[in-house]
Amino acid sequence: MDLHDFADVAENYDLYLDAMYKNEDNHSGFQDFYLDFAREYGKGGVIDIACGTGAVLLYLAENGIFADGTDLSEAMCRLAEEKAKRKGFDLNIFPANMTDFSSDKKYSCAIIARSGFMHLLTPELQRKALLNIRDNLIDGGMLTFNTFDPHPRFQAQQMNTKITDYSFRLEYVNKQGKREKIYNAISYDPFTQIMSGNWKFETLDDNGNVVEERVRPIKMRQTYRQEMKYLLELTGYEIVNVYGGYHKESADCAAKNVIWCVRKK
Ligand SMILES: C[S@@+](CC[C@H](N)C(=O)[O-])C[C@H]1O[C@@H](n2cnc3c(N)ncnc32)[C@H](O)[C@@H]1O
Repeated sequence: MDLHDFADVAENYDLYLDAMYKNEDNHSGFQDFYLDFAREYGKGGVIDIACGTGAVLLYLAENGIFADGTDLSEAMCRLAEEKAKRKGFDLNIFPANMTDFSSDKKYSCAIIARSGFMHLLTPELQRKALLNIRDNLIDGGMLTFNTFDPHPRFQAQQMNTKITDYSFRLEYVNKQGKREKIYNAISYDPFTQIMSGNWKFETLDDNGNVVEERVRPIKMRQTYRQEMKYLLELTGYEIVNVYGGYHKESADCAAKNVIWCVRKK
């Protein structure tokens, strides 16, 4: 099971992500990046793939773009749906794997926001997903997704990190109003390019004592840019833009988060 398959993660996801990105700014501007992309390319319909709890999906709806949403995790889909209903939006959100979902309509714009694509752990699965998304796009339809570049400094650090070498990440207040501390440990296998993470959640009582501990695993795959270029060629896409961040920074060698904007050929 993956971090996102757990109901407790889904129900607290927005709360701890908010706390995390208050301190770490590497996602700033992501919602507007995807809104601009959907405005530019989404006239024929938008789908948010791996939509999670709807951070992008609902932002689009608030700005007048009513996209479909899909995610592998039923818990995440349920949460996104509840949030949409609370905000008065009637959106089509369905659980599915991006490698084989099939919608009854085709889209002009597909978005995989905030590293959803990195959950595909082999080049074969990446290829399957790209081909399947292509099938769900109209001719000339656009897709955006991001990958992390393998970076020697972080690789070296993570290759020396064991799965139980936890570092404190953040503290937040969970859905039940209890303080929780989150620690994680991320190791890296240079042969598979997979980052294996363990996220440990400690629930505290009013005196700060740990009363519950949960460990949730997650694996994500890093992809070299040359690898991705060939994969895109192989799966029938042309590269339109490559950015180094959500503010459309240049994707020079220093960029770790690489955002691909590609067109179905
Ligand atoms: C890092 S979260 C991002 C969620 C959301 N896009 C956001 O920006 O908040 C990644 C999401 O990818 C989903 N996911 C992982 N593997 C998937 C797959 N094969 N097909 C569809 N969704 C997947 C997870 O369930 C999770 O909700």
